[in-house]
Amino acid sequence: MQWLTEYKPDVERVERFNFVARLTHWGHTVTFLLCLFTGLVLFLDGVDWLAAIFGGYGGAGLVHRIAAVFLTIFIVIFVLFDFKGIINWIKDILRFGMNDIKFVMKFPLEFFGFEVKVPPQTRFNGGEKGNSIVTPTMVILLVLSGYIMWFPAIFPAGLVRVAYPTHDIAMILATCMVCMHGYLGSFHPGSGESFWGMWKGTVRSDWAKHHHATWYEETYGDKSDAE
Ligand code: HEM
Ligand code: HEM
Repeated sequence: MQWLTEYKPDVERVERFNFVARLTHWGHTVTFLLCLFTGLVLFLDGVDWLAAIFGGYGGAGLVHRIAAVFLTIFIVIFVLFDFKGIINWIKDILRFGMNDIKFVMKFPLEFFGFEVKVPPQTRFNGGEKGNSIVTPTMVILLVLSGYIMWFPAIFPAGLVRVAYPTHDIAMILATCMVCMHGYLGSFHPGSGESFWGMWKGTVRSDWAKHHHATWYEETYGDKSDAE
């Protein structure tokens, strides 16, 4: 059984994500999952088996803080070395329009494996635009509330009290998003090619034309500046 969409090097491919975007994405994935599993040790009762993986409850707390610092470093790297990419990403989110709404309405069919003709999408489709807003917002809330919980002495007591439920709610929302997103960006038969865009940097041109027609036209097609 084939889990991932096959990587085809011998067909026409186009660049989708540069090195910094890929490095920081996978850096965030590893550090987010480490924070999640060590955080769950602190959040849930009676998960001694999970705590044992990190050397007990103290070990989980330590790994949580180390992973949190690396997660922060990856955010800083992204801002310092791909600021233009972030601005273009925000510009693309702001293009949310009718075609994105149509995409989101057709998305359940695509999710369950039906072949659907999606309306032309920009660099990120309607669902990815939603993910681009919700997940990073939750991660920023986790980072801010996390440091407040870590160093309570330097913050007002009221803020420290609010930080705990904020951290928990952001963790739950981000985890729901990441579960769906992780599946769509890897094993999902229709969108699985996107995995190679994030892993190796390129996707098949025919896939890009089908899934992100507007982006393809503007970047590599007749409407591109490269003409
Ligand atoms: C810069 C990022 C982060 C920092 C600084 C941070 C910091 C902290 C601190 C100081 C605690 C309290 C630990 C203790 O009581 O020993 C904590 C708890 C927790 N963290 Fe984080 N964290 C961060 C990111 C994350 C992420 C990304 C997740 C999950 C996806 C997460 C999930 C949790 C959970 C579930 C708890 C337990 C909360 C509770 O007991 O109610 N954290 N975090
Ligand atoms: C669990 C494993 C994960 C896989 C397999 C995965 C895969 C991917 C892929 C393939 C893309 C590119 C989609 C495209 O072509 O536009 C992507 C984008 C993205 N990823 Fe992940 N990812 C994972 C985890 C995460 C985590 C943990 C976060 C954040 C905490 C995250 C945040 C994002 C964001 C914000 C985008 C851009 C918006 C989007 O395309 O939805 N990812 N991911």
